[in-house]
Amino acid sequence: MLEPYRHNIGHRHLEVGPGSGWYLAHADFSDGPAQITLMDLNPTPLAFTARRLRKAGHAVDEVVGSVLDPVPAAAGTGYDSIGINFVMHCIPGNFTEKGVAFQHLSRVLTAEGVLFGSTILGRGRTPRTLFGRFLTTAYSRAGAFNNSDDDRDDLETALTTVFEEHTLTDVGDVTLFTGRRPRQLT
Ligand SMILES: C[S@@+](CC[C@H](N)C(=O)[O-])C[C@H]1O[C@@H](n2cnc3c(N)ncnc32)[C@H](O)[C@@H]1O
Repeated sequence: MLEPYRHNIGHRHLEVGPGSGWYLAHADFSDGPAQITLMDLNPTPLAFTARRLRKAGHAVDEVVGSVLDPVPAAAGTGYDSIGINFVMHCIPGNFTEKGVAFQHLSRVLTAEGVLFGSTILGRGRTPRTLFGRFLTTAYSRAGAFNNSDDDRDDLETALTTVFEEHTLTDVGDVTLFTGRRPRQLT
């Protein structure tokens, strides 16, 4: 999972749903400290990750918000990169509904910027290992996973609706995606 960060992260970066911030803390910011905005529904991971990244010398802003709504004005615009990893499978609905998140996020990217993310699709997929099957069942019952209607075609449609260029790559049970050249900016 560090590879997409190493490959895509830019100087001005928006991270949606940062969790503990492990990926950002281990990403390679080869141009030195970055300007990072963290956005999440929940202020607890924002505060934890912000503290971690500030210790590493980055300038960090925290914004409470949902990707199902337009990005709050407090986050500003002009992001070189946006990371949204292991967030979409937590959000209720299928990609026809929750794909609106890409629309909202694309509006704060630069024309040359990249959105990169990962998710676990539920429809038409069975986790490859017994442990994966156990975790998926347990997380779904607990309400942490909402991916039973998430399929690859709807994800691809959601990306192509918003971006002129996209990639989709399966790695084990995880689907990695990128979107570039937001349509409303070109
Ligand atoms: C499974 S964690 C992913 C953590 C981290 N990105 C990682 O890969 O380790 C999902 C995160 O997405 C956040 N989240 C869930 N729904 C969201 C929404 N609608 N808008 C913004 N963040 C959301 C949760 O609060 C949580 O911090």
